[in-house]
Amino acid sequence: MATTTGAPGAVLDSAQIVHWREAWFQVMEGFVPHLASLEETLCRIAEAAHGRAPRRVLDLGGGPGLLVERMARRWADVAATLMDIDPVLLALASGALADEVRVLHGDLSTSGWVDRAGGGYDLVTVVMTLHYLPPVQARAFYADVRRCLAPGGLLIVADLMPDESLPSLMGALDPAPDEAAAELAWAQWWNDVGQAEQLRPLLGQRAAIFDNRLPAEFTAPGGWHAAAARDAGFGEAGIFWRCGRHAALAARD
Ligand SMILES: C[S@@+](CC[C@H](N)C(=O)[O-])C[C@H]1O[C@@H](n2cnc3c(N)ncnc32)[C@H](O)[C@@H]1O
Repeated sequence: MATTTGAPGAVLDSAQIVHWREAWFQVMEGFVPHLASLEETLCRIAEAAHGRAPRRVLDLGGGPGLLVERMARRWADVAATLMDIDPVLLALASGALADEVRVLHGDLSTSGWVDRAGGGYDLVTVVMTLHYLPPVQARAFYADVRRCLAPGGLLIVADLMPDESLPSLMGALDPAPDEAAAELAWAQWWNDVGQAEQLRPLLGQRAAIFDNRLPAEFTAPGGWHAAAARDAGFGEAGIFWRCGRHAALAARD
């Protein structure tokens, strides 16, 4: 049974949950080109890292839980946990994934989340979330996350990590998605969710969290992230997937 800490259960209509989660994935596809390819590659590198399916995974900033759901279904015996700060998204995740995933509230901008998440994970994923943190906190995140990982555990961070080395070619090979359209789709998604009467209390909690917390929109090249990971004690770190300005980094001891 999913446990939701900090996002008291709103009774949500299951058809609405399905609709909002599917619409969320479409919005995310507008931001991240070839999102399905990123997710498939991420799963394959995790399997390769361990020579088996991961047994304990943690998806940080997991939103309504689409990635963690796919991981839970791909790896039948996995113990999966999702953590996020947003009470609305936590309610959607726990409403959809009641029996498959542990759903936790946690704020990645301070180290307290580590104790809530616990340790021993052999895979931790953070997709399109680290850019919410300013550089000092993003750097601290790499040290925090090491405490969650089992020996040999793998961290995967996917985010905007522009590659400065071939600016004209990278742009020509894979043009950036229409970010203005994606932003509009995002606003529309929140507008639709905002109409749901039963989510009103959670939307109020969300506003209280985010009103004074604008996303830092911090984007650094992959080399910055790899260096931050190594500085935090990871033995190896590097980019394993790239599409235009989006990239994914893997790090492990
Ligand atoms: C663009 S969404 C990505 C969600 C999910 N990873 C996905 O790919 O669908 C960014 C997520 O980061 C979460 N987030 C932002 N700041 C956070 C923080 N300080 N602690 C935990 N989660 C945070 C948001 O609530 C949101 O779910």
